[in-house]
Amino acid sequence: MRVLVCGGAGYIGSHMVRKLISSGHTPVVFDNLSTGHSAALDEAFRGAAEKGISPVLVKGDVLNVGDVEKLFDEQPVDAVIHFSAHSKVSESLAKPALYYHGILVGSLNLLAAAIHSKVDTFIFSSTAAVYGTPETMPIEESCPTNPISPFGQAAKMVEMILEDYAQAQGLKSIALRYFNAAGADPEGRLGENHDPETHLIPNVLKAILGKTPPLDIFGNDYPTPDGTCIRDYVHVEDVADAHLLALNHLCAQTGSGYFQTFNVGSGKGFSVLEVMAAAERVTGQWVPYTFTHRRAGDPAVLVASAEKAKQTLGWNPKYPSLDDIIRTAWRWFNK
Ligand SMILES: NC(=O)c1ccc[n+]([C@@H]2O[C@H](COP(=O)([O-])OP(=O)(O)OC[C@H]3O[C@@H](n4cnc5c(N)ncnc54)[C@H](O)[C@@H]3O)[C@@H](O)[C@H]2O)c1
Repeated sequence: MRVLVCGGAGYIGSHMVRKLISSGHTPVVFDNLSTGHSAALDEAFRGAAEKGISPVLVKGDVLNVGDVEKLFDEQPVDAVIHFSAHSKVSESLAKPALYYHGILVGSLNLLAAAIHSKVDTFIFSSTAAVYGTPETMPIEESCPTNPISPFGQAAKMVEMILEDYAQAQGLKSIALRYFNAAGADPEGRLGENHDPETHLIPNVLKAILGKTPPLDIFGNDYPTPDGTCIRDYVHVEDVADAHLLALNHLCAQTGSGYFQTFNVGSGKGFSVLEVMAAAERVTGQWVPYTFTHRRAGDPAVLVASAEKAKQTLGWNPKYPSLDDIIRTAWRWFNK
């Protein structure tokens, strides 16, 4: 199958590209390389020729209708996976237009071109931010979605669009609501490389390596056992697996129109201080840190129920341990 991977040069996208190749699919990557890296694709494409697969990188902007139409004209595909968006909750509060425009227009452009080209299979990178501040834990997909940031609002709007397109256009789509994707390719070839980095695990490891000032911990007065925020960390390889299963699940839908949401999380929550303790166990080194004020848009606790993905997609995370997640990231950072 030829699969369009929008944002395939990014952190999760490059792991997906490698997963598609190892499963015998041909990725067509579309990326403007704004936060992604062509070097990541060199690694992700490695070994494709031996499998008789010819992956492609098309440089372009998902916000540019002409780029997107040309892409679909020149590169026939069977399915679309859409990773190309900004993803910082705090930035979205400061720059809502960037997020509403980027997430909504990018998704609408891709959907219009896909439907025009009769491509009816679509996977969207959604987020736990759609839930806002949930009242029950772990969070099931049926929990109310009350986002508290433009990032979460825009992702929720795309989910609503996908549901409407399933009814009206026969689109088959899945929105995967990621919790905190973390870790790196276990062979150390791909990993997280954002600049600036806002995710906790890479920042903990950078602080250990002395590449950054001491780690800022945003708030130690949350209603959690140690006062710091609790999050659900899911290995990026397991995130990529969830996409592959979602793709197979969509391809198995014979009727017209389908839409479902699935949480992609480990089902376990760790506080910031627990993540730091795990990093100290894995690396044998101390994490320098300071406490600072809370960040707007950060709920105290976000932990997924991953039962729906396990039951319906057959998802079975291979890296459920936080220490293993950190170990793979540490190997990547030391490279
Ligand atoms: N990383 C996480 O934990 C997490 C959590 C929730 C949701 N998400 C969502 O997952 C997706 C991927 O996240 P990531 O961490 O891999 O991000 P990333 O920044 O590493 O990757 C995004 C990719 O999209 C590309 N891109 C951005 N804007 C583009 C545009 N206008 N046109 C073409 N390409 C563009 C970038 O160059 C990059 O390669 C994002 O949509 C994000 O919102 C990520």
